[in-house]
Amino acid sequence: MTANKIIFYPDNKEINVDQGTGILEAAIMAGVHINSPCGGKGVCGKCKVRIKQGRVETKTVGLLTKDEIDNGFVLACGSISLTDVEIDIPTSSSISREQILTQEAKVEHMEGIISRLDAGDSEGKEVFIHTPLVRKLHLTIPLPSLDDHTSDLERVYREINKLTGLEDISTKLSTIRLIPEILRDNNWQVTAIIGDGKLLSLEAGNTSHRNFGLAIDVGTTTVVVSLIDLNTGMIIDTEASYNRQAHYGADVITRIIFSRNKQGLDKLHQLIIETINDLILALINGHQIQQNDITAVTCAGNTTMLHLLLSITPSHIRLEPYIPVVNGMPLINADETGIKINPHGLVACLPHVASFVGADITSGVLASGMYQSDEVSMLIDIGTNGEIVIGNKDWLVCCASSAGPAFEGGGIKAGIRAMEGAIQRVEIDPMDYTVRYNTISEVKPIGVCGSGLIDTLTEMLRARIIDQSGNINESIPSKRIRETENGLEFVLVWKEDSGTLLDIVITQSDISNLIFSKGAIYTACVVLAGKIGFDINDIERIYIAGGFGNYLNIEKSIMIGLLPDIDRDRYKFIGNSSLTGARFCLLSDKAMKIAEEIASKMTYIELSADVSYMYEYTGALFLPHTDMGRFPSVQL
Ligand code: FES
Repeated sequence: MTANKIIFYPDNKEINVDQGTGILEAAIMAGVHINSPCGGKGVCGKCKVRIKQGRVETKTVGLLTKDEIDNGFVLACGSISLTDVEIDIPTSSSISREQILTQEAKVEHMEGIISRLDAGDSEGKEVFIHTPLVRKLHLTIPLPSLDDHTSDLERVYREINKLTGLEDISTKLSTIRLIPEILRDNNWQVTAIIGDGKLLSLEAGNTSHRNFGLAIDVGTTTVVVSLIDLNTGMIIDTEASYNRQAHYGADVITRIIFSRNKQGLDKLHQLIIETINDLILALINGHQIQQNDITAVTCAGNTTMLHLLLSITPSHIRLEPYIPVVNGMPLINADETGIKINPHGLVACLPHVASFVGADITSGVLASGMYQSDEVSMLIDIGTNGEIVIGNKDWLVCCASSAGPAFEGGGIKAGIRAMEGAIQRVEIDPMDYTVRYNTISEVKPIGVCGSGLIDTLTEMLRARIIDQSGNINESIPSKRIRETENGLEFVLVWKEDSGTLLDIVITQSDISNLIFSKGAIYTACVVLAGKIGFDINDIERIYIAGGFGNYLNIEKSIMIGLLPDIDRDRYKFIGNSSLTGARFCLLSDKAMKIAEEIASKMTYIELSADVSYMYEYTGALFLPHTDMGRFPSVQL
């Protein structure tokens, strides 16, 4: 078969493939990351690439504008090579680690766990005692003699007991085999690696000052890893990257379907392990740390992500009665997982509550401290979907809203994640409809991220470009409002000013998708509160979690009816609480115990089966709501 050389720019990566190979497939083989939220089904239109040279055969053109087709754009997932091809991947279609680093990881650098561990929390919340998942102890073993016939192993156990009080210590055969040589070759100076009440391994000499751990948030979209000194509790650095599984779909359902056979499961497992291992490599290279110095990992993430991480089939999560294989995982030996740390280290996963309320939410409740408060609080995690928890120190209830990924750019024509060039703030002049915006890193715009989408919706409503049902007012005399073959749209950025050389628009269908999403989140909050006999106004504190949550404008979110219209002081941003909870559990066994209590105490309520949900949801498909009495502060 004829071979074609495919070169991808700007990465300048090339690969030889058989003629007729799909461009998206070739990109994956070449290690080039093209955004492909629908998993290559040709329905999301996000995998646009431009053919610079060569010929491809392309089938799916319906999602491209005439302008795009004229400029050589094709969908990577719907095109195959016919000759050698050179391909440009526009920033809006690429997935790169650097883009996340500039945005989301910075927040993590600023977030401190040390104050909570060492100095207590300023709000008087629980202070976790520093008892890391894995410890290292330098041991000076007394030499054996004719008067002391204690075995080598007992000698080691005895010293550990003296230093820690640990009794009934056990170890594995491979460690016992190490002992005679390591003791005698190192003048009876060794370091014991201890976790879960066991001697995990012995190292020569004194390595106790080199003991590091990783807290990992395994997100559907983004994976974030913090490197932490287990001796001091200090966060040394944080790295983030897109989850490479995203090549096979943006949402958990697509990935569950992909992993229903062994081949698919192996592939998704391998991709998440590769994503994590690359981040570990970046962290250890940046700080002159050896892989073996990392002895412990804690992971939080949704139920599907952690199943895939451990290569456990998530198939049953999407089938009635929606049961995961496991909610609370036992501690795992690192060498069983594929995560590249010290093979004798331990990996702990925070516990899930249910199939659609995972360890990321348990972690969020732990991080927020709402589980120990007298006041009734709500946690809203706005990620690829929205999860809600309400409760206090005595009880916790939770639900998952089917919000969809619109606020992460999914299903929105110009929607992109928070990356360089994403429009994050928008203002529209109600007199002449001029649009002012700013972008992340202040470069030319390439699309609109979640906070920009909320701004856009609010500003279009305020300028009466859309009515409260979200319909674009076509009678407005502005060339920004135009009719296309796919319906009405509003031009946010003209192509002359755009980083994509194409107009950046918000379509009528984008507006509908955003209204569906915001309606689902608001409805879940109200219905869940109603289930336990609360009015939303009775909630004393609302924690906003999730990477996107950091950039949320509360005022504008209330104006479109995404968030309840309550006193603004009651809102509190807690950032990536999934990661924060994982950090706590890495550094404190008490935190892990509390996470287990939280998960077992939380009652999951399935909203899709609730009759009041549809009734409430219908009212929420309005800006802000059909019942304006619920949004007294919103003046239109
Ligand atoms: S249209 Fe190509 S990945 Fe969705």
